[in-house]
Amino acid sequence: MTDKSPSPGAQSPLELPAWQALLVHSRQIKDIHLRRLFSEDPARGTRFAVEGCGIYLDYSKNRVTTETLRLLLALAAECRLSERVEAMFRGERINTTEKRAVLHVALRSRRGNSIMLDGANVVPWVHEVLERMEAFAQRIRSGRWKGYTGKPIRNVINIGIGGSDLGPVMAFEALRHYSLRDLTFRFVSNVDATDLTEALRELKPDETLFIVSSKTFTTLETMTNARSARAWALQALGDERAIARHFVAVSTNAQEVAAFGIDTANMFGFWDWVGGRYSMNSAIGLSTLLAVGPENFRSLLAGFRAMDEHYRTAPLEKNLPVLLGLLSIWYNNFLGAQTLAILPYDQYLKRFPAYLQQLMMESNGKGVTLDGNPVDYDTSPVVWGEPGTNGQHSFYQLLHQGTKLVPCDFIGFCQPLNPLGNHHPILVANLFAQSEALAFGKTREEVKEEGTEAWLAPHRTFEGNRPSNTILAERLTPETLGKLVALYEHSVLTQGVIWNINSFDQWGVELGKALAQRIVPDLQSAGEPRLRHDSSTSALITRYRSQSRRKPDASEF
Ligand code: F6P
Repeated sequence: MTDKSPSPGAQSPLELPAWQALLVHSRQIKDIHLRRLFSEDPARGTRFAVEGCGIYLDYSKNRVTTETLRLLLALAAECRLSERVEAMFRGERINTTEKRAVLHVALRSRRGNSIMLDGANVVPWVHEVLERMEAFAQRIRSGRWKGYTGKPIRNVINIGIGGSDLGPVMAFEALRHYSLRDLTFRFVSNVDATDLTEALRELKPDETLFIVSSKTFTTLETMTNARSARAWALQALGDERAIARHFVAVSTNAQEVAAFGIDTANMFGFWDWVGGRYSMNSAIGLSTLLAVGPENFRSLLAGFRAMDEHYRTAPLEKNLPVLLGLLSIWYNNFLGAQTLAILPYDQYLKRFPAYLQQLMMESNGKGVTLDGNPVDYDTSPVVWGEPGTNGQHSFYQLLHQGTKLVPCDFIGFCQPLNPLGNHHPILVANLFAQSEALAFGKTREEVKEEGTEAWLAPHRTFEGNRPSNTILAERLTPETLGKLVALYEHSVLTQGVIWNINSFDQWGVELGKALAQRIVPDLQSAGEPRLRHDSSTSALITRYRSQSRRKPDASEF
């Protein structure tokens, strides 16, 4: 044993020449206005834009100059970004704290490719599971798979949480247009019984299939929900043998799956080199495959693969995930932004911001470097967002006139999936208008010229200079979704490399989980427990114990 860190222990980014130069540069251009940048360079709108595998990224409405980009790209080079990206694709154990490779890219690798890990090619394993998933999906979708009473499956419930839920639910919503409408899909994640209760409402157990999705198969929320779902099914079907027809598992842990009572013949596996938040195109995507069918699922994978190729091969200055990641670094570390807003102008992408919250914040919300030293710079921004146009009537006020700098990613499509009257041009006009208003604002003079009284003019003035990216694609297809998700996955790695952190572990979720396990008996014990918590937690437990045992009056119902 050695207590030496297995990580390379690279230099702090603060010491790099490009970081230092960016600090100086940021002071020089911090007051420069986008109005000026655009008027000085009439071609800026297309010069600061790049297209990669059908995804167009307009980053012209960012507070950057050619010099900013030069320095950001120099920073990427000084951090040896390309080497670190290659290390991931080669299957090196870049998740050092868990001593694991990071190979979600293998999940979308073409059959016949070779990605070696410990002397074995993992690509054939991926395709073997994919084929089993497809065969299973065909049986469910065609009605050939029968439930215990001989009826076909009509409802599919994915039980999982975090990466075992957010990917599946986001992809289902995003690709709902392509889904088989004969099947109902529901997603249960919260240990709050309301989630499962509402999901089961009006469903017939003999027509319902549960997919228990958990990488570890030990997660408290998922196992609690799975056990309750099992009891619900058993109560109605009355026979243990029914479970095999109504429960399948997605996991890396065959032992726990068997212990739960699911036949491992009905288990779809994946591997420890797939992180939870990077797992939506592993077997964790089974619900997606059931919903959209094998062909669309393969298109989704092809989209991921196209962006992987682009990330690996495009020069840094034309590389979408690299540019997106570097721009985020610019605002986060040099212009003081604390958050990033994700604003998809497509109702099908309504869960995309929630999905990206886990992807970005669980990956890069880290406080120590790869070699365990505290970081002395900011890491992940807080990620949040809502679909447009709804957000416009809610929080955009702050984006336009508030005191916070909030970089925004607008996402839109040129073709609608549900053409109806002039809805789509109105939707897209709003997207373009918002980024235009944020960037250019409206001066006090312009407001006055419109005839606004002097006292009201400050309230109606928009200072502008508020940055945004616009990500535009032709149409929201499975392939496009794959490209978009991979774009953000790789932008996360880009940022993690610059910050010299491990983007692939999540030790920060452990403490709360462990403390909850200690508190459960304190809440449930019949006798008064001896509480050994701080005074706040103990008082809360005591109050809960007394109020949870109080019988409500009939009048309170
Ligand atoms: O709580 C964090 C986490 O470990 C995530 O990283 C993961 O996606 C989620 O829990 C679910 O874990 P599992 O798939 O093992 O149930």
